[in-house]
Amino acid sequence: MSHTPRQVHIQEVSPRDGLQNECRFVDTDAKVAMVDALSECGFSKIEVTSFTSPRAIPALRDAEAVMHRIKRNPNVVYTALVPNMRGALRAMECQIDEINVVMSVSESHNRANLRMSREESFVQLRDVISAVKSTTSRINVSLSTVFGCPMEGDIEEDDVFAWVEKFHALGVDGITLCDTTGMAYPRQVGRIATRAIALTSEIDLTFHFHNTRGIALANTLVALDAGVTRFDACLGGIGGCPYAPGATGNVCTEDLVHMLEVNGIDTGVDLASVLNVSRRLPEMIGHDVPSHLLKAGHRLTKATQAATQD
Ligand code: COA
Ligand code: ZN
Repeated sequence: MSHTPRQVHIQEVSPRDGLQNECRFVDTDAKVAMVDALSECGFSKIEVTSFTSPRAIPALRDAEAVMHRIKRNPNVVYTALVPNMRGALRAMECQIDEINVVMSVSESHNRANLRMSREESFVQLRDVISAVKSTTSRINVSLSTVFGCPMEGDIEEDDVFAWVEKFHALGVDGITLCDTTGMAYPRQVGRIATRAIALTSEIDLTFHFHNTRGIALANTLVALDAGVTRFDACLGGIGGCPYAPGATGNVCTEDLVHMLEVNGIDTGVDLASVLNVSRRLPEMIGHDVPSHLLKAGHRLTKATQAATQD
């Protein structure tokens, strides 16, 4: 039986997942303008930046300045990625709506990315969660490499769900399952989505796909069918983790919104507004982006133009 919902939430991650992987430093003014434009597109949530070590992620070393200068739309939840207590304190000083803590379900990737064992990360994130719970901010946990690790291969699904259960038991508001290097495939996504929904029915469950092997939209459809209603996506299809070998872009926001829209699924996101922001990306980051929609336009664009010319 299909559970495809009529309303899904798109959570834009380009200011964080997108820009963290770029060589060119995008200056603070340009980041603020980008987030402000994204705030008018209809996204449920925007991941604005990360409060990581500036040595680990130099591209986002201006996190506080960006957070302080953006114009907040009350309909958008503003979130930021946080790897440790130091990052959480920095984020909380910015009165962030949500803290998105991160760790990997793969020991090797956690060590490469966060320079800690998974257990060390968990202990630190447990303290972060308890600190955030005494504030008005929401707390989400992003688990990396759920669908496979570029260093270890498949991670046992029982081990993945042991981490999901540990964080769920701490009372987080949301859990994101991340396909960090685009290793997910549809049958696996269906299985993991069904199991995750059963475990987390009363909190927000997000799926975060990368399009490394061209399967991200197919995976999204399968997750939707299983009942997942929240998806991270990235303008232009840029993005990726600098500490995961072979990582490339996220599922492209405009391609995803277009696919859902033509299929009659409401995302609340205005495609034309998204394309207007996306169009500025190549100049901002200094290279072309993988977006299909930016090149091809809406499936009816050409037909509409032809009809007007007749
Ligand atoms: N924000 C700012 N600075 C931080 C910080 C944070 N959240 N956490 C640590 N630091 C600083 C420390 O103060 C220290 O600075 P100093 O050398 O000037 O004294 C330095 O970073 C090293 O601190 P340490 O605790 O030893 O960290 P580390 O070098 O072992 O790195 C992380 C650990 C988690 C901070 C780092 O690996 C990181 O930020 N990773 C994020 C990776 C990421 O975002 N990947 C992509 C998204 S999945
Ligand atoms: Zn990602």
